[in-house]
Amino acid sequence: MLEVADLRIRAGGASGEGGADVVDGVGFRLEPGERLGVIGESGSGKSLMALALIGLLPHDCAAGGSVRLDGTELLGTDERGLRGIRGSRMTMVFQDALTALNPLTRVGRQVAEPFRRHQGMSAPAAAGAAVELLELAGLPHPVVTARSYPPQLSGGQRQRVCIAMALACRPQVLIADEPTTALDVTVQAGVLDLLDRILGLETAPRPALLFITHDLAVVARICERVLVMRDGRIVEDGPAGSLLRHPRHDYTRTLLADARAAGWGG
Ligand SMILES: Nc1ncnc2c1ncn2[C@@H]1O[C@H](COP(=O)(O)OP(=O)(O)OP(=O)(O)O)[C@@H](O)[C@H]1O
Ligand SMILES: [Mg+2]
Repeated sequence: MLEVADLRIRAGGASGEGGADVVDGVGFRLEPGERLGVIGESGSGKSLMALALIGLLPHDCAAGGSVRLDGTELLGTDERGLRGIRGSRMTMVFQDALTALNPLTRVGRQVAEPFRRHQGMSAPAAAGAAVELLELAGLPHPVVTARSYPPQLSGGQRQRVCIAMALACRPQVLIADEPTTALDVTVQAGVLDLLDRILGLETAPRPALLFITHDLAVVARICERVLVMRDGRIVEDGPAGSLLRHPRHDYTRTLLADARAAGWGG
């Protein structure tokens, strides 16, 4: 279980002088297998919060408070300690799959990497597992895809590769920061279906999901519970169904009204 308490992030002045608190006292729990959505306007601190959880804050930012995974404190853990967690127990999918993948390394090799590194598979076994995973991720010609380089794939295919990689090690926690925002609407739907399907597989304990998005329709579909962030704080939190139907906070109402004005039918 992931427990976040009084998380504070100071950006643009990590050494202590200047800077601003862009995340200011955030706390929540993510239960095993739970799907938690995070919504909130641009600049409300969603991405920095996510990066702090997985120990990838930019160098000009500093975090305080506590982030515990099954009781182990992650904040302040050194790079060596984090390497045993990142990519195995906790993984992340980013908005821009092209920058998340190495353009000069074949896709199959990148997908195989976590199998080798974290599960100790031999190179041929990992290569086989990578092809299976690409097939599971709905890539049309998995063997051909494995031999391809990321720039040779479409945006949707690349994001499928990233999701496959993120789930290769059966993490306890998957963080997804706007994973479909950069994709066309029709491609978005396919990638969300994939996420839904892969998270629902019965083969292993289901990873918990922290899903950051602007899209309330996506929250309604994917998430069980929602946090609403504004100016670095959580202003509302509750079950997705009731929060989206009966928001309590004015700010959440505004977000919902904006989404409806932009065509959301929820
Ligand atoms: N590396 C950085 N240095 C200084 N300030 C930063 C840095 N990264 C982000 N910020 C600032 O921190 C605040 C929160 O940014 P963050 O990227 O977490 O917002 P967000 O909620 O993810 O927004 P969006 O919905 O647009 O992705 C913003 O005011 C942003 O300008
Ligand atoms: Mg963001």
